[in-house]
Order: sequence, then C-alpha cells, then structure tokens
Amino acid sequence: MKILVTGARGFVGARIMEELGQDAVPAPSLRAVDEEGIRRIVDAAQAELIIHTAAMSDISTCEKDPDGSYYANVEIPIWLARTGIKCVMFSTDQVYSGCAGEGPYTVDIQPETILLRATWMYDMPKYGVMNRGNFLINMLRQSEISFSFAQHRAVTYVREVAGLIRQAALLPGGAYNYGSENDLTMFETAEWLRQTLSLPIKMQDTGPRHNLWMDCSKIRNRGIHFSDTVEGLQKCIRDYSL
Ligand SMILES: NC(=O)c1ccc[n+]([C@@H]2O[C@H](COP(=O)([O-])OP(=O)(O)OC[C@H]3O[C@@H](n4cnc5c(N)ncnc54)[C@H](OP(=O)(O)O)[C@@H]3O)[C@@H](O)[C@H]2O)c1
Repeated sequence: MKILVTGARGFVGARIMEELGQDAVPAPSLRAVDEEGIRRIVDAAQAELIIHTAAMSDISTCEKDPDGSYYANVEIPIWLARTGIKCVMFSTDQVYSGCAGEGPYTVDIQPETILLRATWMYDMPKYGVMNRGNFLINMLRQSEISFSFAQHRAVTYVREVAGLIRQAALLPGGAYNYGSENDLTMFETAEWLRQTLSLPIKMQDTGPRHNLWMDCSKIRNRGIHFSDTVEGLQKCIRDYSL
C-alpha cells in the first residue's frame, strides 16, 4: 500500500518514513501550496493513505505568526481531508493548554479523519534530519533546566510513535490521545532521568503550569499500547546505550 507522508524530513515524519520503508512516498514541502496544489500532490502519489506530520509545530512561532499558523495547522489539514483519501493527522497535547480542568483529558470529537494528539516526543539526533532539541537532548546538553513540579505531562519515545503508526491507521475515524501515559510531573520525570544517567544538570521548578495530562485509554482499548513515560525512557537509554 502506498502511503503519502507529509513533513517527511521533519522530526516525526523522518522516523515514520523509516518505519514504513518501501510503502512510504515523501510529499514535497507544503509551505506554499494551495488546495489545488494539495490535490495535485495527492493525485500524483496515488496513495491509499496520507500520514500528515507537516506543521508549524513550534508554539512560540505560531504565536508570532497566527496567519502562517492558521495556514499550516488548519487550512492544510482541511485541504488534505477534502481529498477524500484516508488521513492520519498529527496534533498535539498543547491543544489542552486552554482547557479549564486539571486532566487527565479525554477526547470527544469524531471526525472521519484519524487525529492523533501526540505528547512531547524525544529521540537522539537522526543523521540528515534537523535536530531542534527535545526533552532528552535538552537534558543531555543543558547545564540548567526548569520544569514544573505542578504540571502533569507525559513524554513519548518517537520511535514507539512511528512503530505503532500502521496500527493507528486502522483505527476508526476520530480523535485519539496518542502516546505514553504518566502520573509523574515534568519535574519528577526530569529528576528521574537526571539520577538515572547521573547528569550534571541543575534542576529548577518553574512553578505552576497547566496540566497536559492525557488519558490514552481510547487507543489502549483498541490494542495500541505505549510504554509509560519512564519505561519509554528506559527503552531509549538501552537502544542508544546511554
Ligand atoms: N515534536 C514533538 O515533540 C511533537 C509533540 C506533539 C505533537 N507534535 C505534532 O507532530 C507533528 C510533527 O511534528 P514535528 O516535530 O515532526 O514537526 P517539525 O519537524 O517541526 O516539522 C515537520 C515538517 O513540517 C513542515 N513545515 C514546517 N513549517 C511549515 C509550514 N509553515 N507550512 C507547511 N509545512 C511546514 C516542514 O517540512 P518542509 O521543510 O518539507 O516544508 C517540517 O519538516 C506536528 O503536527 C506537531 O504539532 C510534535
């Protein structure tokens, strides 16, 4: 089966390309296309499935450029969905930062597309892929770091995200929280990593932060199982002999 992958050179997309091997068709950059351009790209790929990872993914960039963010993160996904080809689209746990409750959050919308709300993801750098930094890299590189003792949020090994993507494509349409679960705070997770790897990093508490704590039982009930946050980090530490 041919699978069109957008954002194929990005952090998540590059790992999904590797996971899908011969089935994957990398989409060209979508930075300056209109709806017609999207249709042409999809038609040319003759794909039965689209995995959409292209996005303006950095929150502060989105805040500085709301129009660009709307184009990249709202219009492009709508245009892809309108092609009528089945789509698996990545979204983020950051959508919950505007919610009033404390979490864990459940999902309650049912579009035809499969929408995956991912947690913050990490991996070691990959050759040929831009390395923007992530939880693990930041912990390894920085001498001082701040996380919240009050914020519940999971982090996920991106190789598990890629490894489960074929199963995710078989889900019925709808929105799914997609990633590791966690009952530690960000500070506690970082402190666990600091101690486990004996990192020479100074930890500080940022103070209160809104929880981004996701309930992933909807995918678990459909047979998609992630390691929890600490197990995922342990797996990554073993994979790279850290
Ligand atoms: N990384 C994480 O920890 C994380 C956490 C939660 C959710 N997510 C979600 O997962 C998806 C993939 O994230 P990622 O970290 O892989 O993203 P990324 O590496 O920052 O970007 C993926 C690709 O998006 C394309 N892109 C960038 N700006 C664009 C724009 N303005 N218009 C159209 N395309 C643009 C780029 O491809 P070209 O250079 O080819 O244009 C880039 O390689 C996103 O939806 C993100 O919100 C990521």
